[in-house]
Amino acid sequence: MSKAPAPSYETQELREFGEVLQGRRTINLYLQTRVPKTLVRDAIEAATWAPNHHVTEPWHFYLLGKDSIAACVELCRDIVTAKKNDPKAGDFKAQQWAEKPGWLVVTCRTSTDELLQREDYAACSAAVQNFMLYLWKAGVGSKWTSGDITRDPRLFDIVGIDPAREFVVGLIWFGYPKLTPTQQRAGVDTVLTELP
Ligand SMILES: Cc1cc2nc3c(=O)[nH]c(=O)nc-3n(C[C@H](O)[C@H](O)[C@H](O)COP(=O)(O)O)c2cc1C
Repeated sequence: MSKAPAPSYETQELREFGEVLQGRRTINLYLQTRVPKTLVRDAIEAATWAPNHHVTEPWHFYLLGKDSIAACVELCRDIVTAKKNDPKAGDFKAQQWAEKPGWLVVTCRTSTDELLQREDYAACSAAVQNFMLYLWKAGVGSKWTSGDITRDPRLFDIVGIDPAREFVVGLIWFGYPKLTPTQQRAGVDTVLTELP
C-alpha cells in the first residue's frame, strides 16, 4: 500500500525544525571539545530575539571564563559539603561540575510590578530556550540548572551580579554531548483541550 501523501504544510524544512525542537535533551555528560566562542555569541544573539512584552529586553548574559568557572566549582564544593555535611559528597559534585565545558548565567531584571516581573521572567525563559535550541541545531547540548548555586550570594560576587537589580533565571551549562538521554512526553492528546 502506498503511503498517504504528507499534508501540504509539512515541508522537509518544517519536519527538520520539529526534529530540532523534539530532539533537544538536557545533557549531563559532555565531551571536552571547546565550543567556538562565535557560535556561543550567535546563540546569545538568537536568545535576545525571544518575545518580550513591552520590549523590555529584561535579560543579561554572563559568559564565564576559566577563572570564574573554577571559582564556581569551588563554590559548588562548599555548598554540597555543607548541605550534606560530607566533604566527599562535595568533592564528587565539584568533579562533575569541573567537567562542564561551557557556563552561561542568565539573569532577569527585577521589578516591583508583579505582572511585569512575571512577564519578564517568561521572556527570559523564552530567551534561554532560544539559546539552547540554537546550540542544539549546531550539535551542542545544554542543561539549565536552577539549583542552590543560582541563589547563593557568593555566585553573585563571582559573576558580578547586583541582586537589587537582577536575579538568576538559570545557570546554563553547554558543550558537545557525550551521551544524549531519551525522554517521554505525555503527547498532545493529553495536554490539549479543543473548544468549539
Ligand atoms: C526552569 C528550569 C530549571 C531547571 N533546573 C534544573 C535543575 O536544577 N536540575 C536539573 O537536573 N535539571 C533542571 N532542569 C532541567 C529539567 O530537569 C529538564 O528539562 C527535564 O528533565 C526534561 O528533560 P529535557 O530537557 O531533556 O526535555 C531545569 C529546567 C527548567 C526549565
